[in-house]
Amino acid sequence: MPRWQSAQRMKSTGKTAIVAPLFHVHGHPVNMAANAPRKILVTSALPYANGPLHLGHMLEQVQTDIWVRFQKSRGHDCLYVCADDAHGTAIMLAAEKLGITPEQHIETMRKAHEQDSAGFLIDFANFHSTHSDENRKWSEEIYSRLKSNGHIASRDIIQAFDPEKQLFLADRFIKGTCPRCKTADQYGDNCEACGATYSPAELIDPVSAISGATPIDRESEHFFFKLPAFTTMLKTWLDSDTLQPQVANKLREWTDAGLQEWDISRDAPYFGFEIPGEPGKYFYVWLDAPIGYIASFDNYCARTGHEFDAYWHPGGDTELYHFIGKDIINFHGLFWPAMLHSAGLRTPTAIYAHGFLTVNGTKMSKSRGTFINASTYLEHLDAEYLRYYFAAKLSNSVDDIDLNLEDFVQRVNSDVVGKVVNIASRCAGFLHKGFDDTLTDSCAEPELLAQCIAAGEQIAALYEAREFNKAIREIIALADKANQYIDGKKPWVLAKEEGRQAEVHEVCSVGINLFRVLMTYLKPVLPAMAQKAESFLNTSLDWSALEEPLLGHTLARFTPLITRIDPKQVEAMVAASKPAEAAVEKPATPEKKQQNEAPQTIEFDDFAKVDLRIAQIIAAEHVEGADKLLRLQLSLGDEQKQVFAGIKSAYQPEDLVGKLTVMVANLAPRKMRFGISEGMVLAAGPGGEELYLLEPHAGAKPGMQVK
Ligand code: 2FM
Ligand code: ZN
Repeated sequence: MPRWQSAQRMKSTGKTAIVAPLFHVHGHPVNMAANAPRKILVTSALPYANGPLHLGHMLEQVQTDIWVRFQKSRGHDCLYVCADDAHGTAIMLAAEKLGITPEQHIETMRKAHEQDSAGFLIDFANFHSTHSDENRKWSEEIYSRLKSNGHIASRDIIQAFDPEKQLFLADRFIKGTCPRCKTADQYGDNCEACGATYSPAELIDPVSAISGATPIDRESEHFFFKLPAFTTMLKTWLDSDTLQPQVANKLREWTDAGLQEWDISRDAPYFGFEIPGEPGKYFYVWLDAPIGYIASFDNYCARTGHEFDAYWHPGGDTELYHFIGKDIINFHGLFWPAMLHSAGLRTPTAIYAHGFLTVNGTKMSKSRGTFINASTYLEHLDAEYLRYYFAAKLSNSVDDIDLNLEDFVQRVNSDVVGKVVNIASRCAGFLHKGFDDTLTDSCAEPELLAQCIAAGEQIAALYEAREFNKAIREIIALADKANQYIDGKKPWVLAKEEGRQAEVHEVCSVGINLFRVLMTYLKPVLPAMAQKAESFLNTSLDWSALEEPLLGHTLARFTPLITRIDPKQVEAMVAASKPAEAAVEKPATPEKKQQNEAPQTIEFDDFAKVDLRIAQIIAAEHVEGADKLLRLQLSLGDEQKQVFAGIKSAYQPEDLVGKLTVMVANLAPRKMRFGISEGMVLAAGPGGEELYLLEPHAGAKPGMQVK
């Protein structure tokens, strides 16, 4: 009798049988059996289209993607849609600054965002934009339903207005001196120095952060969503287990204090959708952002012929989940369900909020190099390292997640490479050498394999509940068991002994079967590695096929599935995330100049302290790891100086060699990451490509003093 049959027997007694537990998602019973497919729509927060994605965004997308991939691996119909959040004043102003249209700006951002998400193996069914026909249609439709239900009010309000720029100023676009501690240059609603919160009207000497002009008060008509009308509905919703307990508690503070009407309009100029019938009035970005979930799904359905109605109309048998950060729970936990309710659409099955990402125990910081963009990470490290690390840390709570970079290297190397891949790599060699890459016809360790398979239901329940950290702990505990088994059998010793080849074959075949089970469990987290494992194992890693062990099965040649992280890769990523210390003093932007009152006057003696000299650029080169700097070797006639200049955006090094320019020759040497900078060259212009080195008229010689 093949030895595997004892495990088959166990299975028939129910020990390893796949049961179909009724799992509760915040009070909603959900059938988890793989043979009862659920129809699930999942979203993560729509990233703003005004900046690159950073690792904080990736935490959320990775969390969502793992959950979605898990659902699919269990046979469910699960779709993940997302989009760029493309409207608002910030995007309008950013485009203006870049000298392009908002449409061009959001298109560039969208490409970058899609590329970053793809780099992190985020498997969107659809990635759309809130600046889309579908979103306009749905925003207008929902607004019109709210209006005809009597849930829209209008009234005049007084707001700060920038008379120069001719636009209303949100709090964060007003700056001034803190009324409490008198620190200058503080933003409209809170002081970074003393932590005071206030209204912009209380700021001393307020100015528009956009133009530098003093804001004036101006009245204008705004439209409001009558949130208080939904107090009872929202109280029931908060008590319904749809939200995590901490989130529901936080939102109860709002309902307890009495809900306020929500201002959903903004005045022109604004980049967004004009409100039908209200010229010059636009939907506030936060009104049409969540509607972007519907719009993206609508776009997907139009593209693919997938059914739409069952997902957004009440009473369908579909599930809807929003993954978000804890900073935007009021929009998703109060305004959004109330809007959906009024519009006659279904409310979410659950909202899953996560905490913030910290790096090395503190807030991500540009100067420490821990504010890491997704693209910078991908230039240095494999996405799956971070997917694994996030999974190992994520739970279903709103606690912050810390990416400790040392722990990251250690954990990934030890768990993924040292434990999981190790099982396959140590067995594959023997199977290749002695057994034509073919596994035994029966399993020599059925109990161990059955135990590993039986753990699958518990692991599935943990994935379902977003307890990824616990799922990973279970999986790695199984990997430990597999390694202990191999260590105990010592195939490397057996291989050298006469007459023990059959045992080597058995041990390594068990090892490969265990590896296959573990990789199936890890597939939602490590999809690319799982794909390589599938090629090696010559089978697809399918959760529902686990009970059939690989017997008499031939493997492909083993190739390394993932390499260890070299800590130097992490160092390089951190270095690349630090702002380059520009040797050229950053030119003040036109806006900043206007904010500074009169330019400060200095005495002639102060000016005379600056030793300005004509310098000849005798060598210029790129600086490895620096985004903005060129290294210049400058001749002052009888002496040479090295200067790191932040002019890379405007010059090719080879175009500079031989040119004369002006340098500050007596600036105290500064130690930079790349070496010592012994001065500064002078350039004019706003920056970027528009940066012009000063050049003297013909006849000037290196070393001449500039007076
Ligand atoms: O907080 C943010 O980055 C928003 N862009 C999230 C929008 S989520 C949804 F409502 F669209
Ligand atoms: Zn203050």
